[in-house]
Amino acid sequence: MASVSSGFSLITGATDGIGRHTARRLVECGKSVVAHGRDDAKVDDVVRELEALAAQKGSGAMVRGVVSDLATVSGARALAGLVRETVESGGGLEALYNNAGVFMKGAYVETVDGREMTFAVNVVAPYVLTGLLMGDLVKRARESGRKSSVLNVASISASPRIDFENINAEKMFSAHGSYSLSKACMKAFSYELFDRLAAGKLCNGDATVDNLNVFSCDPGTVNTKMLLAGWGRCGIEIFEANDQFDIMVSDIEKNSVDFNGCYFVGAAPMKRSSAPGDADQARLWALLERETKLVYV
Ligand SMILES: NC(=O)c1ccc[n+]([C@@H]2O[C@H](COP(=O)([O-])OP(=O)(O)OC[C@H]3O[C@@H](n4cnc5c(N)ncnc54)[C@H](OP(=O)(O)O)[C@@H]3O)[C@@H](O)[C@H]2O)c1
Repeated sequence: MASVSSGFSLITGATDGIGRHTARRLVECGKSVVAHGRDDAKVDDVVRELEALAAQKGSGAMVRGVVSDLATVSGARALAGLVRETVESGGGLEALYNNAGVFMKGAYVETVDGREMTFAVNVVAPYVLTGLLMGDLVKRARESGRKSSVLNVASISASPRIDFENINAEKMFSAHGSYSLSKACMKAFSYELFDRLAAGKLCNGDATVDNLNVFSCDPGTVNTKMLLAGWGRCGIEIFEANDQFDIMVSDIEKNSVDFNGCYFVGAAPMKRSSAPGDADQARLWALLERETKLVYV
């Protein structure tokens, strides 16, 4: 049974698809979960399902729900605040799954912040959320004596390089192009986050590779509503989509040091490739700082 001090895992986009399945897996094994979504009714629904599962399994997991639209920087900031309040009385935050994502089938959609929607939800929001919750993850690690973890969900569809001239669909919009570019950004963001962690540049040097894991992954090709909209039914079923859970819970708990900083495919760590490359990482980070006016300290 999980105790009150087991710490929470935040899963963004836990109302559907892979995020929802990952939340189920965590609750089944006694991990407390904050399930995030953008729609009140869908969050209520997943919280009810997870609470019933915790009761049925007797896992002792606590379940909370939070609602925020990640299309804007203010939405990501609001989510960080909500999560902080939510986990305060339950042992803090031990894991962040940057899972929420969109594939924008159809025409270009601009957010109220003036960004292309895919870039806003898939890249800008995780950057803001991670930066604002980093201190909470490190605090939890210090208090528990166990490493906290961040998982940035990328994709095997990630483009080989980041086209900075079209990052916000400045030249042209294509749904697949924007999606692939956003996932290349998630890999680059994750590598840069790890490099900064390793260099002692985060949380005034308090965040280290010894108290925080930074992972990215392709979560498998899974028949979710996103895959069906963009690629058709060419994947595994949602109940089989265990990679996020395996990376963060099973494999990492066995061998957290060696895998820190890795990008995983099929829940196996990949050798770090040159693409998107250090220069792209640093350039993306600087761009995100400018776009969001959030500088990690
Ligand atoms: N499925 C695949 O084969 C595959 C492959 C590689 C990578 N991925 C990645 O895996 C992650 C999960 O994707 P999925 O396939 O499970 O997709 P999904 O079933 O469409 O789920 C996406 C989740 O993100 C939420 N979301 C979307 N826009 C949001 C916004 N503006 N604010 C807050 N939440 C928002 C959705 O909320 P609603 O429930 O309200 O829609 C949903 O909970 C994504 O990052 C995706 O890019 C998926």
